[in-house]
Amino acid sequence: MFSLAGKVAIITGGGSGIGLATVRRFHEAGAKVVIADVTDQTKLAQELNGLYVQTDVAAEEEVKNLMKRTYEEFGNIDILINNAGIMTEAPIIETTKEDMMQNFQVNTLGVLYGMKHAIKYMKKGGAIVNTASTAGVRGVPNYAAYAASKWAIIGITKVAALEFGPNNVRVNCVCPSSVETPLLASQEGGELEKLIVSTGAPLGKISKPEDVASLIHFLVADDCPMVSGQAINIDGGSTAGHSIAMMEAVFQGVVNKL
Ligand SMILES: NC(=O)c1ccc[n+]([C@@H]2O[C@H](COP(=O)([O-])OP(=O)(O)OC[C@H]3O[C@@H](n4cnc5c(N)ncnc54)[C@H](O)[C@@H]3O)[C@@H](O)[C@H]2O)c1
Repeated sequence: MFSLAGKVAIITGGGSGIGLATVRRFHEAGAKVVIADVTDQTKLAQELNGLYVQTDVAAEEEVKNLMKRTYEEFGNIDILINNAGIMTEAPIIETTKEDMMQNFQVNTLGVLYGMKHAIKYMKKGGAIVNTASTAGVRGVPNYAAYAASKWAIIGITKVAALEFGPNNVRVNCVCPSSVETPLLASQEGGELEKLIVSTGAPLGKISKPEDVASLIHFLVADDCPMVSGQAINIDGGSTAGHSIAMMEAVFQGVVNKL
């Protein structure tokens, strides 16, 4: 079940966090993994008998080269995970044009370039998953540039699902809420965010990179042939509404003020 044997899979941002967990999971499921990252992942690629292609996803020529190199090495592309991303934290009154451009260049254009240049090599059909965020389905204070870039990913995912359907390529995106990765740890309020997110989630915990990787795995597997154009939240249930734990915490705070 969910075998990826014989598939060639590219994972951008495969050197850390969600991307790394996906690389390892795909390898275990039998895929040939191609790791695309700005940081050197030669050793990891050797360990997994895969390929590392140094790639800045914001640079179109480098993404084009990534697809060409993969095709030359393995003769096809079956799976593309556009996952590399950055995150800028700033309130709107301090958000600059540069913040907006940077987040769009990596998060949104990176996804566009990936899909644009991979499709011609996906000759046997296949699947694409883009990593958006729950910041792409609702607002998050202090993350205007990031949230806008993630809302845009959901938009292009739906357009790509329509355009690539005739090629038998399914296109979806995953929308995680906070995940315990180095990216989260690098945020100023990272620890507080972990506490708030696990209280706000009905399941009472924060996602691990492996949790997101398993959803991505399901979405790209042949066992999931009819899902396309979807943005799937992976958030412990937090977008369903206010958790009981969160309501109790708020209620307690109000009582304490009386
Ligand atoms: N961690 C979270 O809380 C969270 C929540 C929702 C969505 N996401 C999204 O998940 C994705 C992965 O995030 P993560 O938390 O695993 O982050 P991470 O920082 O652990 O890993 C990101 C990887 O992407 C690489 N990268 C960064 N910029 C790049 C570029 N221009 N070109 C190529 N590679 C680049 C980094 O070198 C790193 O290996 C991102 O798109 C992020 O926005 C993360």
